[in-house]
Amino acid sequence: MRIVVLISGRGSNLQAILAAQLPAQIVAVISNKPDATGLQVAQAAGIATQALAHTTFASRAEFDKAMIQIIDGYQPDLVVLAGYMRILTDEFVNHYQGRLLNIHPSLLPSYAGLNTHQRALDDGVKVHGCTVHFVTPTLDHGPIIIQAAVPVLNNDNADSLSERVLCMEHQIYPTAIHWFIGGRIQLAADGKVNLLNNN
Ligand code: GRF
Repeated sequence: MRIVVLISGRGSNLQAILAAQLPAQIVAVISNKPDATGLQVAQAAGIATQALAHTTFASRAEFDKAMIQIIDGYQPDLVVLAGYMRILTDEFVNHYQGRLLNIHPSLLPSYAGLNTHQRALDDGVKVHGCTVHFVTPTLDHGPIIIQAAVPVLNNDNADSLSERVLCMEHQIYPTAIHWFIGGRIQLAADGKVNLLNNN
């Protein structure tokens, strides 16, 4: 199986995916930010990298079209968004339907969007966490594959909470990708996730 990973930043999830030594080939890591440190992580692992600065495109649609062309050059079976901080066009999402995964730092459907940790703290929730889901056109609302819960502690701030959530992200993302590689999860026609066997 061929996997393309899209990033925008430091690439700690990418690092966790690489460390898991999954039975698949990460054929490329692509960033919309040329200075993303995650690109160095990929290069150190001998993986092809490419950067396509979204700022050089007149529209989101044109940027996503160019991204599709680059990604498809690597003929991926799966596209993994790992801290890829771009809102995707419907065209992009539909193009990779059923083979596009994202990780989000909250227990969806709570706290879609940005600043999830601070919003959770402001609301006083006692449990927070992270979610891996299939990507659908509605932002951060695709069918859920796996979640991990993290308790919110009395003295937490956004940094301390995000650190503990990130630890769990690094566990559940490789797990979800492993399931996908093994054919154990599928996006069904009714928009639900078929979980065939998660042992
Ligand atoms: C993660 O918290 C991820 O859930 C969010 O952006 C962050 C990316 O971190 N979408 P990293 O680049 O994988 O370290």
